[in-house]
Amino acid sequence: MSETVLELRDVEAGYGRAALVLRGLSVTVGAGQVVCLVGPNGAGKSTVLKVASGLLSPRRGRVVLDGRDVTGLGPQELLRLGLAHVLQGHSVFREMTVEENIRLGGYTVRDKATLARRIEAVRETFPVVGERWKSIAGLLSGGQQKQVEFARALMLEPRVVLLDEPSMGLDPKTTDTVFNQIARMRTLGVAVLLVEQNARRALQMADVGCVLDLGRIHISGPAAELLDDPRLGALYLGGGVVRASSEATATRVDSAAPAAPAADVT
Ligand SMILES: Nc1ncnc2c1ncn2[C@@H]1O[C@H](COP(=O)(O)OP(=O)(O)O)[C@@H](O)[C@H]1O
Ligand SMILES: [Mg+2]
Repeated sequence: MSETVLELRDVEAGYGRAALVLRGLSVTVGAGQVVCLVGPNGAGKSTVLKVASGLLSPRRGRVVLDGRDVTGLGPQELLRLGLAHVLQGHSVFREMTVEENIRLGGYTVRDKATLARRIEAVRETFPVVGERWKSIAGLLSGGQQKQVEFARALMLEPRVVLLDEPSMGLDPKTTDTVFNQIARMRTLGVAVLLVEQNARRALQMADVGCVLDLGRIHISGPAAELLDDPRLGALYLGGGVVRASSEATATRVDSAAPAAPAADVT
């Protein structure tokens, strides 16, 4: 069992006066572990990451980073403590060069030698970053931009990286590259909390899989086992969990349409 880096404990969270989105959610991510959170559109996957990165304060429950209670700290403080969040959608600075984007990721690194060493490291991990170093980031393909985002997030050598739908909008080949890069982060010992609608593809490379539904982790276990769990098929091929039935038993809904991909960029 790897050392726990990030933990959400019994988190309740929501937006304004609307009903709670997360209703007692707990999840743990260890060093060098990829935990993949899957679930239908609107289930609250992005909300989990927002609570973990301090963008949204939970109403109840705790966020624990390296054994320290960090509940209520903001994104800047959490980034300083080693937690980076790569948001859903594209968040590179499109008018800036790749180099400028990467340097922004390391803007708090004062020591020049350290900065140079980290730039070298991300250029090695993400070859496209080095190849397109002087290019305007907005001219890169979606997959290349995603790799620039990963590289930027790694500039502060985070202990945890939260990735929200990194394969969205990418073609299958680029998706493979992006998933390989996530596997690479794991070998660096980074704790990765990954959110994906592309559930099967993501679970093939993740260590642990968790299915989010009704504001809680509905099913969780070794990712490989979850891949064979018929309840996953029920959620993704049938469209959703039957609300009226017991929460413990997910049942296939044949009439429901598959959930549409989320389109928000927050
Ligand atoms: N900024 C927001 N303000 C109000 N409601 C939101 C906001 N972001 C998300 N929600 C709502 O919270 C629920 C969960 O959203 P989200 O976490 O984005 O789901 P997912 O990432 O699983 O698709 C949805 O019902 C969504 O409409
Ligand atoms: Mg989302």
